[in-house]
Amino acid sequence: MTRIIDGKQLAAQVVDDVATEAKLFLDKHGVKPGLAVVLVGEDPASQVYVRNKIKRAEESGLNSIEHKLPADIDQNTLDQLIDQLNQDPAVHGILVQLPLPDHLDENAVINSILPAKDVDGFHPVNVGLLSSGQDAMVPCTPLGCLIMLRQVMDDLTGKHAVVVGRSNIVGKPMAALLLRENCTVTTVHSRTQNIEQICSEADILVVAVGSPEMVKADWVKPGAVVIDVGINSVEHDGAYKLKGDVDYQAVAPVASAITPVPGGVGPMTIACLMKNTLTAATQQLS
Ligand code: GUN
Repeated sequence: MTRIIDGKQLAAQVVDDVATEAKLFLDKHGVKPGLAVVLVGEDPASQVYVRNKIKRAEESGLNSIEHKLPADIDQNTLDQLIDQLNQDPAVHGILVQLPLPDHLDENAVINSILPAKDVDGFHPVNVGLLSSGQDAMVPCTPLGCLIMLRQVMDDLTGKHAVVVGRSNIVGKPMAALLLRENCTVTTVHSRTQNIEQICSEADILVVAVGSPEMVKADWVKPGAVVIDVGINSVEHDGAYKLKGDVDYQAVAPVASAITPVPGGVGPMTIACLMKNTLTAATQQLS
């Protein structure tokens, strides 16, 4: 029987643990761990993500501070806000929702966040720490994927992990994290030749490309563990449905364990943001 890895349930557990720790933190320090979320513009998907992050922060016993900025804000004003958040002792974590409007320099914004407050794990200092196998702020989605893998695998050592996608947000940090777990890691992407063949050799297949139902049953080795990071809104008969990057109906019978969409990686990403904020707060006040 294929195991369905329930991200909603697992995320609730993570949030529960964070809430317990956040209460202890409040008792000890007299402040809640604080998360500042910055949203620039009105991208509908980003608005939904940010709303969910704020809601979950409150449920986790964190203090969330939302900064909504107009789409035409200039780089200087955004830089000043980040500076102010960097210096604010009540803010332990800073998240700037991506993507930013085209006229803003995304890398400059990421680089201006203090690494200690970088709960996304996107700052080059955190990227470097993770890549060199050191303690780092680990990006939320790969961290969520790892927690899900650990639910169904005792030890990842020696497994062949194939990561589909090479984004800075998921693919690259996922590969670094799996390498830290002693996997043999292959990254494949849109320019890879024989992508199906390489995927079909994976014990662990993590897919993060943003292409609905791209991974078919014959891409998957029988018994593989499949983690589907994709969240694609697809129209069907006039209604919109969320689809992953994996053809779930076809792949689930082949895999030994698989994450559904929705209710898989999505809730874990947000739960891990809460976990990272608590970690950041604890490190800053110890
Ligand atoms: N946009 C899509 N995913 C993410 C994420 O994990 N963090 C941020 N900041 N923006 C995103």
